[in-house]
Amino acid sequence: MAVDPRVVNRAKEHFGKIVEEQLERVERLKQSTEKLDFSKVSPIVIGVIGGDGIGPLITAETQRVLEYLLRDEVKRGKVRFRVIEGLTIENRAARLKAIPDDVLAEIKQCHVTLKGPTHTPEKGDGWPNIESANVAMRKELDLFANVRPTRIPDQGVDWTFFRENTEDLYAVGSQGVNVTDDLAVDFRVITTQGSERIIEAAFAHAKRTGKTKVSIITKANIVKATDGKFLEVAGRIAKNYPGITWDGWYIDIMTAMLINTARRKEFQVMALPNLYGDILTDEAAQIQGGVGTAGSANIGQRYAMFEAIHGTAPRMVKEGRAQYADPSSVARAAAMMLEHIGFADLGKKLHMAIDVCGQYERKVVMTGRNNGATGHQFGDYLMHTVEDPTLESRWNAYVFTQKKS
Ligand code: IPM
Ligand code: MG
Repeated sequence: MAVDPRVVNRAKEHFGKIVEEQLERVERLKQSTEKLDFSKVSPIVIGVIGGDGIGPLITAETQRVLEYLLRDEVKRGKVRFRVIEGLTIENRAARLKAIPDDVLAEIKQCHVTLKGPTHTPEKGDGWPNIESANVAMRKELDLFANVRPTRIPDQGVDWTFFRENTEDLYAVGSQGVNVTDDLAVDFRVITTQGSERIIEAAFAHAKRTGKTKVSIITKANIVKATDGKFLEVAGRIAKNYPGITWDGWYIDIMTAMLINTARRKEFQVMALPNLYGDILTDEAAQIQGGVGTAGSANIGQRYAMFEAIHGTAPRMVKEGRAQYADPSSVARAAAMMLEHIGFADLGKKLHMAIDVCGQYERKVVMTGRNNGATGHQFGDYLMHTVEDPTLESRWNAYVFTQKKS
């Protein structure tokens, strides 16, 4: 049967529009924005967004700990909290917007935000097919670096993933096209500028933290244009970092490497395109103890947003278990936020408290069900631990025992 030229033309037009938009984006990427210097910002405004499902509960627990740690900074006017309502699936669906305009305006009045998970509609779940709020926020605020650490001290695991956060299948993920009933096409976009900034961030982080290796993860043997570009850019940037070695891995073998206990210690800093990063960081989080333990920083030049790496846990909500959700993921994100806005000592304390409470002493154990503690009880535990004078020695004891075993 002959191909209907009208169908082909419709698809071409659609593709043409995407290409135009993306070329315009490249031009915007070429205009660099200056990085915000938090030592000069006062007050630093921290937005708090509860989100959907278990989000409001785990975020409130974290906000409590954060407000406690920052109480002096709030008193002296250096920090201000601002609660942002309206980034709920009900409001987003009613307004048919990934982020309603007034909510976005409020977010932009904050320097950084702590965000609970937000529901991402998918075909057939009853919600209108609006874009993911996460993805929209990353794009709107140009949060190009998704930094996701995985730490298991006793196993020598200390990875930091630099997941590119604005491109790849996510750039045009909601602009795919059903050409006919039988043919669906999505688009994948990778730019030189987008690759440069994430790879540069990974190398700079490695240098700053005394790491010696950066691994670049693609599937450049198959996805030749886009992944090929990412890999080529990496080779170019690596030349500016003579003290750091780099290697390239394919995503499939890398998923195997992460569970290869003999080899995985070799990896330190990893930079990778968006979707591979999405998948690999869930695997890494599971190795660390579950997605409920993993936080994430979404960083741009001007704004930054900190969140859990997991979703809204609709199953827990449906089964009436939301109050047993673990706030550790958002708390981890908050610790990263403290570091980002210039309170490295407070960030360190919170990281240590989460390690001690969640992995070592475990006086309050969360199971996600009613045979374990609630998120609020865990929040109390963190509150008691985070400024306790014995925290550092307890944490050292943990790392020491773990290393011996
Ligand atoms: C993440 C999440 C999001 C993503 C979803 C909720 C849109 O899985 O932050 O990893 O795919 O990026
Ligand atoms: Mg994910």
